[in-house]
This record gives sequence, structure tokens and C-alpha cells, in this order.
Amino acid sequence: MCGIIGYTGYNYAQNILLEGLSQLEYRGYDSAGIALLTKDNQISVHKCTGRVASLIDLCSLDEVDSCCGVGHTRWATHGGVTKQNAHPHTCGKVSLIHNGIIENYYEIIEEYHLADKLVSETDTEVVAALLDTLYESDPIVAIKETVSKLNGSFAFCIMFTDQPGLIYSIRNVSPLVAALAKSGSYIASDLTALIPYSKEYFIVPEYHIITLSKTDITIQDLNGKFILPEILTVNWDIEAAMKNGYPHFMLKEIFEQPDAIHKTIAPRIKNMLPDFTDDSIPNSLFLNCTKLSIVACGTAMHAGMVAKTMIEPLLRVPVTVSIASEFRYEEPLIDKNTLVITVSQSGETIDTLEALRLAKRLHGRTISIVNVKGSSIARESDYVLYTHAGPEIAVASTKAYTVQLAALYLLGCKAALVNDCYSVTQANQFIKNLIDVTDNVKLLLEHTELIQSVAKYLTGATDAFFIGRGLDYTLSLEGALKLKEISYIHAEAYAAGELKHGTIALISEGTPVVALATQTKVYSKVISNIREVKARGAYVILLSCDESITDSSICNLHIPLPKTDDLFTVFESAVVLQLIAYYTSANKGLDVDKPRNLAKSVTVE
Ligand code: AGP
Repeated sequence: MCGIIGYTGYNYAQNILLEGLSQLEYRGYDSAGIALLTKDNQISVHKCTGRVASLIDLCSLDEVDSCCGVGHTRWATHGGVTKQNAHPHTCGKVSLIHNGIIENYYEIIEEYHLADKLVSETDTEVVAALLDTLYESDPIVAIKETVSKLNGSFAFCIMFTDQPGLIYSIRNVSPLVAALAKSGSYIASDLTALIPYSKEYFIVPEYHIITLSKTDITIQDLNGKFILPEILTVNWDIEAAMKNGYPHFMLKEIFEQPDAIHKTIAPRIKNMLPDFTDDSIPNSLFLNCTKLSIVACGTAMHAGMVAKTMIEPLLRVPVTVSIASEFRYEEPLIDKNTLVITVSQSGETIDTLEALRLAKRLHGRTISIVNVKGSSIARESDYVLYTHAGPEIAVASTKAYTVQLAALYLLGCKAALVNDCYSVTQANQFIKNLIDVTDNVKLLLEHTELIQSVAKYLTGATDAFFIGRGLDYTLSLEGALKLKEISYIHAEAYAAGELKHGTIALISEGTPVVALATQTKVYSKVISNIREVKARGAYVILLSCDESITDSSICNLHIPLPKTDDLFTVFESAVVLQLIAYYTSANKGLDVDKPRNLAKSVTVE
């Protein structure tokens, strides 16, 4: 998960590359660098550890006269975070940047005796050295031969000192998009870096060599056959990828949720019933399903767990939720009557993509819930139900999660209708409750003071527990992930009924416990579990719809949620948990949008 940008055109490249890297920094931010091909056919490289801001400072000392260059932000896979390991990597006539993992780089070093050419610990530099070794005078021939030796995922942007003004690119799995504008040709890991220059773009096809010049972009397959790109139009503007006055992208994206949920569900509701006609998803997809298998990672997987809890009792068929990186190796029980649902904000998470490919090999029916149009998972699924959250820049996923829930709820309602598990009246009521979510979340976002006081208590904590039962347990998982990934507080989610089987030993005076008690049928049980931890000194922060709670023996802080049907409180609970994590991280003065060690899209295994 690195950020890649390339430009060749009529304008100076340096600032275009640096601006693009600033837009792409959320993809990885251990180190950054640019390489510029100068008019006297020299490669000028600037790179450093740390953020893009450090690279901008470095480059400001040396304005290079060049209209052709490549830039990279790194999330370290091979080798530590050092200047030597930062991209671009240059060897002889070749300068190259890479997103992905080359799995056989060590064998290549041995086979081509490259060790003496290398100064870094990276797999990427090995590719640069191999390419330089194989390169004589034709870049296309050398690139073809080089990639034929590689095992693994890659998105390369390459320059050769004797090919002035030209950038070459080729990908396998790792994402790349490109655009030809009046000012020149652009290529990047994702749209956020292209938007300022073009609303039209295309997805770089895998194993095709792209040649960018200032006037043209050509695409040829490995047999030399030229093809024309499928031009797509961006469905959001650069404003959507800016903070617009918010202190962090994460807070902006939390507050965008009512609009994002509305944009996701409104086009799929006709006469108060779920309707996927415009998504070209046939009702038959949901017929004769003996099993649903939901596969995802991280927050997306947590959305799948909520969907399981909502769908399984409705359809009365097994609904399994798998961590994609586990699913791939557990010989899953998939057949033509299994509906496999992959969930992914980026649509590029390699584990989820490979899980999808496995499901298709096993003849499963596949549908994906994806936020990025034209992404790999979307393109490779039989069907796709896009969410319309707009770009999500903060590494911690917020609006993508709630729109995934909304999309999965629509899908569950449709499946129930198609299989006569829901009457039209029941479906009407379900859809009304789903529509009401937008206003309930809006109402919640108008009063965040109480949540901010919760965050003040957590700011000094080293550990925190999230507990609940049923849907509240699945939300606890998401609440714990949000808190730990941006505040670095060790947080664990526990089924409330499970605490007394061991974990309650960790509860001591003042231990923060965020308890969710929104599910009517288990409410009294959860309250008992809360009393158990409270009796042992826990500081309990309670989320419930029960406004009557005043009993201090139950909690230290109560956050009341708008009363809704039990199935739909998950949206409000999610927003509260997101805000708790956000304000805690902000109070600690941490980089909320770009937490340490993380990156937005995990395109490496
Ligand atoms: C969530 O806050 C994280 N950013 C992470 O768990 C993320 O949800 C996961 O990597 C899946 O990403 P995807 O939705 O793009 O596939």
C-alpha cells in the first residue's frame, strides 16, 4: 500500500509530483521521494524518510528543470524505514517506483548476480537492477522480459535516461489509474491525485505496458497488440477529497455519514422496497442460496458480522463471516448455491481480492460491496453493489462502514423478500427504519459534548474494554478497532456474557469499559454483566436507548441513543464509537488521519 504518481507534459513536474504525493500520502507515509528526468537525460532523485512535508522541504532547496518524473510514498514491506530503502530506486539507466511485493526477489538476485548492484534492502531495487541488466535499447522488450521473471504484485512506473519525456508503467494486482489531459499525461495509484487535472481517466489493465508521453498514452499487451482504454468519468470532485474546514478528514467523514447513507440507499429504494434494477443485480442471485459467505478485512469484516446477525435469523440459512486472509487457506465450503459477499471500501485489499478469486474458482456466486468505482474487487465480482460514500481519506474507516451496513441491510431485505421470508409490509417497515437512520444519525451528530467528555476520560487510559451482546457485541469489535488504531490504547471487545470466563480478571479500579446495551432481548443480561464489572471498579461508559437510566451502580457516564428498532441502533452506536475514538486520539495530539504503521489500502499480503 504505497502511493505512486507519474507525470510527463508541458509543465514543470516537481510540484505536480509533490502535490500528488500529498494527496496520496494516506496510502503510506514511512518515506517519500521523486525522480525527475532532466533535459540533459539525467535522473535527479530526492528522497527522505518521514512525511511528504519533509520531501517538499528537501526539494525546495533544489528546483529541478524537468517536465517528466515519478513520485512515491512508501509503506515499508521489505527493509526498514530508511532513506536508502525509500523509492525511487535507480540503477544504471533505470529509475523505478513500485507498489506491491515481489515474492521471488531473492532468487532473482542469485540468478542474475545482482548483489553488487544493490544498496538497499528492498525488493523494488532488485527489479530496477534486473531491468537495467536486461535493457539494451527497447524499453518494451526489457519490461516484458523483466515482468516475466517476477512473482508477486506490482505497479511500476519506470523512466530510462535515454528515453526523454517518457514514462512506462505496468501492473499486476496493485492499482493504477491514468489520464491524458491538455497539460500532459498522468498516472497514479488512485484518483485523488488525478482529479485536479482530469475528470476522465482509465484503469490501467493488468499486464499491459503503458507508455506516457506529453501528448499521448499508449497501451499494449505483452504480445504488442495495442488497445484503447475504457474511459471512465470521476463521480466526485476534488472538494470531496479535501478537509473543507474540518481539523481532520476523519471528523469530516464522520459528519458526512447521513449524506453518504442517503446517497447509498436512495437509488435502491422504489415504492418503499429494495430495488437493484439500476445495479443490474437480478433477484435470481438470491434464490436457492443454501449459504451466505461474507468475506472481508478489518472494519469491512465487522460490517459483515453485523450483516450476519441481521440476515441469518431472517433467511434461516447459515451466514458465515470470514477474515479474508484466513478464508484463503481454510478450504472454504463454497459451491454454486453459495452467495459470497466480499466487502471492501477500497476494492483493492489484496486478501479480499484473492478470497474473491478463490470463491469464483469454487463456483460460488459473487457480489461485492465496494466504495471505489471500477476497483479490482468490483470488476472481478459477478455483481457489485457500490456504496456512495465518496472518497474516504482517513485511514480509520468511518462513513465507509456505515454505508456498508446500509448496503448489506438492503441486500438482506431483498434476499428476504425474494425468498418469501419477508412480506411486503414487513419489507416496507424495514425500509422505513433504514430511511430514518439518516435523520437519527444527524440528530446524534448535533450533540457530541457528552462523547467528548468520555474521550477525556479515555485519553489517560492504557487499556479499554468494549462489551455487548448480539449486535452490540459486533459493534464492540468495531469500537475497539477504531480506538486502538488511532489512539494506540490497547482496546479489546468482548461478548458481555464471556467476561466472567477469564477476562474480568483484568478489570480493576478505573478500568474503562464501554458497554453497549441497545438490544431489547438481552438488555437485562447485559445490565447484569455491567454491574459485574462496575462492582470491580470499572469506569463504565454506557450506550443505550433507555433514557431512564440514572442508577450510578450501572454506569459512570450514560450516552443516550435515539430509540429505534433494535436492528437499526447499530448506525447510531457506530457513530458514537467513532467519535469516542476520534476525540480520544485528537486529545492525545496524535495524527488522527495517518496513524503510525498503518495505511489506507492494504494491497500487500
Ligand atoms: C479500518 O478502520 C481500517 N482502516 C481497516 O481495518 C480497513 O477496514 C481494512 O483494511 C479493509 O479495507 P477495505 O475496506 O478497503 O478492504
